[in-house]
Amino acid sequence: MRLLFFAGSAREGSHNKKLARLGQKIAEANGIEAVFADLADYHMPIYHGDLEATEGVPERARAFKALLGEYDGVMIVTPEYNAGIPALLKNTLDWVSRVQTEPNVFQTRVFAIAGTSPGYFGAMRSLLQLREILAVGFGAQVIPQQMALPGAIKAFDDDGSLVDEARQKSFANVIEALAVAARRLTA
Ligand SMILES: Cc1cc2nc3c(=O)[nH]c(=O)nc-3n(C[C@H](O)[C@H](O)[C@H](O)COP(=O)(O)O)c2cc1C
Repeated sequence: MRLLFFAGSAREGSHNKKLARLGQKIAEANGIEAVFADLADYHMPIYHGDLEATEGVPERARAFKALLGEYDGVMIVTPEYNAGIPALLKNTLDWVSRVQTEPNVFQTRVFAIAGTSPGYFGAMRSLLQLREILAVGFGAQVIPQQMALPGAIKAFDDDGSLVDEARQKSFANVIEALAVAARRLTA
């Protein structure tokens, strides 16, 4: 059983990448094989039907779909932009949905969602939207446990862990729940 972590931000200093990397570390500390992927390595143009018709699906969309396919559980850590998910994340999911190869990577693994923002709500509204997109748009299984981390700027210690121990524990619980669900899927 293996887990993949990625964030819906390509920004170098991204708080959400930090949280995704922390998730990967927590998983590994618990004996779970886990990888962090950076969307900065999977840059794709904005989806456009004419572009798809003339040039096909970008190679990076195929590569990202193949990457998703290697893992039993996937945690997506999303920023919140104007109460929704960033265009980067939606665009990535949209392109991947246009890759016609089997299997359907959204319906054959399990997902967990998390997010952080400098504000008070910690990307909560973005999480609500992402859950709906994954469950309704893709028919994906999304575990009920999730993590919305407010106050992103002061939330992390120098070593990347969370300053607030209770939040660190609750994030670890989400990862454990993802691992349990992913193990059940592979059993
Ligand atoms: C276009 C835009 C819209 C934003 N809207 C929200 C918002 O609705 N709620 C929120 O909590 N933060 C909002 N923010 C602030 C982001 O949460 C903040 O920039 C965050 O650090 C982005 O995530 P990252 O650090 O992972 O790149 C917005 C930022 C941008 C650039």
